[in-house]
Amino acid sequence: MKVCRRETFNAAHRLFNAHWSDEKNMEVFGKCSNPNFHGHNYVLETWIDGEIDEETGYVIDLKKLKDLIRDEISERFDHRNLNLDCVEFEKLKPSAENIAFVIWNILREKLDAKYGLSVRLWETENNVVEYSGQ
Ligand code: NI
Repeated sequence: MKVCRRETFNAAHRLFNAHWSDEKNMEVFGKCSNPNFHGHNYVLETWIDGEIDEETGYVIDLKKLKDLIRDEISERFDHRNLNLDCVEFEKLKPSAENIAFVIWNILREKLDAKYGLSVRLWETENNVVEYSGQ
């Protein structure tokens, strides 16, 4: 059984490879390489996979999951510049793929091992990435 909590956060980023020329960065990343950064309204879906608990009827208490996402993800990334403010992206390009990877690792550490975890991160209405640990 899978259950999901949806949360949103806003953050700015820039995709840029310091080893490349400005022209090459523009060619590969387009507007995402704009030197003055740009923002996204990220939609984060956190999917938990597990058994239904007989006593509660829940797979997981979604209120507790909501609090975990707020404390560990929203507090860390909401209204931040991912490139400049977040140590997680000092050496990692803040692409949707890498943001999902970072979020999955943070949540995985805090969640009971009995649960499966998958995160889906919508960067735009049309672009989504998913990470489940591999
Ligand atoms: Ni972008």
